[in-house]
Amino acid sequence: MKYLITGGAGFIGSHLVKQLLEQNREVVCLDNFNTFYDPKIKEKNIAQATGHPNFILIRGDILDAKLLDKIFKKYKIKKIIHLAALAGVRPSFVSPLKYVETDVNGTICLLEKAKDYNVEQFIFASSSSIYGINKKVPFSENDNVDLQISPYASAKKAAEVYCRTYHHLYKIPITILRFFTVYGPCQRPDMAIHKFARLIHQNKPIQMYGDGSSQRDYTYIDDIITGIMSVLDKSFDFEIFNLGNSETTSLKNLIELIGSLIGKTPEIKKLPDQPGDVPITYANISRAKKMLGYQPKVPIEKGIESFIQWYQNSFTGYEK
Ligand SMILES: NC(=O)c1ccc[n+]([C@@H]2O[C@H](COP(=O)([O-])OP(=O)(O)OC[C@H]3O[C@@H](n4cnc5c(N)ncnc54)[C@H](O)[C@@H]3O)[C@@H](O)[C@H]2O)c1
Repeated sequence: MKYLITGGAGFIGSHLVKQLLEQNREVVCLDNFNTFYDPKIKEKNIAQATGHPNFILIRGDILDAKLLDKIFKKYKIKKIIHLAALAGVRPSFVSPLKYVETDVNGTICLLEKAKDYNVEQFIFASSSSIYGINKKVPFSENDNVDLQISPYASAKKAAEVYCRTYHHLYKIPITILRFFTVYGPCQRPDMAIHKFARLIHQNKPIQMYGDGSSQRDYTYIDDIITGIMSVLDKSFDFEIFNLGNSETTSLKNLIELIGSLIGKTPEIKKLPDQPGDVPITYANISRAKKMLGYQPKVPIEKGIESFIQWYQNSFTGYEK
């Protein structure tokens, strides 16, 4: 059985590739190595996998229907884990159409192929950001998600809608996973934890938007990968699962924690709230616990410690 991982050279994708190869599964990775962040980082993420007998790397675009046809014909893909996306919230305000192109149209291209080639499972990486400014916490999969507050979140929501429609029309088995702020080694350099670590390390001030009381449910990468793997080994008709840690950390405490682990006092520059920032993300994970046996294991203190170790050992070469 062959697994197609889109965005497999990215942060989450490269961890998933590693795990699948460790279990001797056959992986086709499709990634266009875009410049959303330095593609050298993605090359490094995937370097260990290249050369593995069960690994095929295809440098290409999920929007390229002819390429997709070749891939599906040649490799007889049975399962798709669709992670490729433009993933940052703030840049989506600058280029909303690019987000529609990649995150919505790209998802439709893959759903079309899932239909044409009768794939057995389609897993779509969605995001906690689709809950927008949901007042009810923790966020549950059954909550109404009608107000997204960034173009990124709207694109993810639209892609979810297409997943549901394609399931209804063509009976493609689809599982949507709503990830809650994922962190750990190889985290994208644009994400808060990584950015804060870099700035503290370089003795530069951190721009803190709001008063520091906003809260996020930070989820360690290993827990996310375990969650994805447990979906791969089940067959669902159509399901949505939150994958979070189900604990929240305030922005202020996060910055302090990172500073204390690096051994420096962060210099904080307070700025007003930014559009697109939600006050809280907080996952209700009872459905994932019940149906997947999902149980996050890494508390924020331990997870940040692992991230800082990785950052200090292996990332400093790419600092800007
Ligand atoms: N990291 C998080 O905290 C988080 C939270 C919620 C949801 N997600 C979702 O999880 C997925 C992976 O996120 P990530 O943090 O690993 O991001 P990432 O940017 O590191 O990985 C995405 C990968 O997709 C590739 N890609 C982008 N457009 C492509 C295209 N048109 N064709 C082929 N490849 C393309 C990129 O080159 C990149 O390697 C995304 O769908 C993201 O929206 C991530």
